[in-house]
Amino acid sequence: MAIERVLSGMRPTGNLHLGHYNGVLKNWIKLQHEHECLFFVADWHALTTHYDTPEIIEESVWEMVIDWLAAGVDPANATIFIQSRVPEHAELFTLLSMITPLSWLERVPTYKDQQEKLASKDLSTYGFLGYPLLQSADILIYKATQVPVGEDQIPHIEFTREIARRFNHIYGKEAGFEEKAIAAIRKLGSKRAAVYEEMRNAYQQSGDEEALESARALIEEQQGMSMGDKERLLGYLEGGGKMILLEPEYKLMPASKMMGLDGQKMSKSYNNTISLRENTDTVAKKIKTMPTDPARIRRTDPGDPAKCPVWQLHEVYSDDNVKDWVQIGCKSATIGCIECKQPVIDAVLKELKPIQERAAQYAEDPTLVKNIVAEGCEKARKLARETMRDVRDAMGLNYG
Ligand code: TRP
Ligand code: SF4
Repeated sequence: MAIERVLSGMRPTGNLHLGHYNGVLKNWIKLQHEHECLFFVADWHALTTHYDTPEIIEESVWEMVIDWLAAGVDPANATIFIQSRVPEHAELFTLLSMITPLSWLERVPTYKDQQEKLASKDLSTYGFLGYPLLQSADILIYKATQVPVGEDQIPHIEFTREIARRFNHIYGKEAGFEEKAIAAIRKLGSKRAAVYEEMRNAYQQSGDEEALESARALIEEQQGMSMGDKERLLGYLEGGGKMILLEPEYKLMPASKMMGLDGQKMSKSYNNTISLRENTDTVAKKIKTMPTDPARIRRTDPGDPAKCPVWQLHEVYSDDNVKDWVQIGCKSATIGCIECKQPVIDAVLKELKPIQERAAQYAEDPTLVKNIVAEGCEKARKLARETMRDVRDAMGLNYG
């Protein structure tokens, strides 16, 4: 199997809440045991939209790292770092900007969507237009193979793939590339070489994506072949040159089922969240005051869980027994809403308890947190520097 490198980032724009935990963080925590993982604080991305409130970003960076650690992101299994502490991201962003058509940026759907959504802010800035390109630099600089993201981010990953392809196409050629690629094909052995040629033809003549995939797999599996030859074979396959940047895949994270206190998606902008650091009393209070099915005016009025935001939380937190109890009890008015909410309160508190205990430990020891991040930045920079060496070479910037 090909070695995967997973990379993902999160913008530090406020407290993390249960929606982040049940959507993103649980996913990261699982992935860190399966693959090499890099997780970073996208502080420059936060500045693209929050340039006028830098204090929020500054505060949120460390709090967010603490939340990650408390939730179970493990520095022994994942590299945790801060984007701006690896300035190579900015260098790659600049270099990639030279080959990025403006029209590609303008047609990324988040550009117009976010401008409309955040109409109170002036987002007709160069930085905001460049948001997806900065994200591409984040990804390409680590040659990440997998990027776990929510659905809204898919266009950014597709954009990243196009940028990588364009870069490889323009700069990937090395002197004698054809000859070297053909020599590498011979090294596959006659049988595999024939399969490679056949799939290359299928892809180049009729755009057969499956053939492309199988040929890639064949190259990956090839033992004892140098990285250089593998890259030549990959490049030759698509008709381009040597692959310098790697086209990442996205890994769609299942949309968080986590609904907010009002039945809309849990999100800070709707003010309907339970934060990971919410204290016990507030958790109970917030859930107790949640709206329920409006049909249940009196205790004796039957209701319908399908029309109640509390039910959404039962869907996440309750087992079948409890869910049956809610369904029957609500529809027959044999349970009251306060009663119905108690198992949710208990489950949320149970989930938060170990997280908050760990968060308190990290919060008391800022040096520990800073060391974890410093170490992560160091590791990340090492990887980033390697890619930048190739990129500078390819773009003619390695002056003797
Ligand atoms: N744009 C992402 C978001 O808003 C954050 C992000 C920045 C990111 N750089 C990234 C995610 C690189 C994945 C990979 O969620
Ligand atoms: Fe909602 Fe439960 Fe009340 Fe039914 S009993 S309306 S599910 S809180």
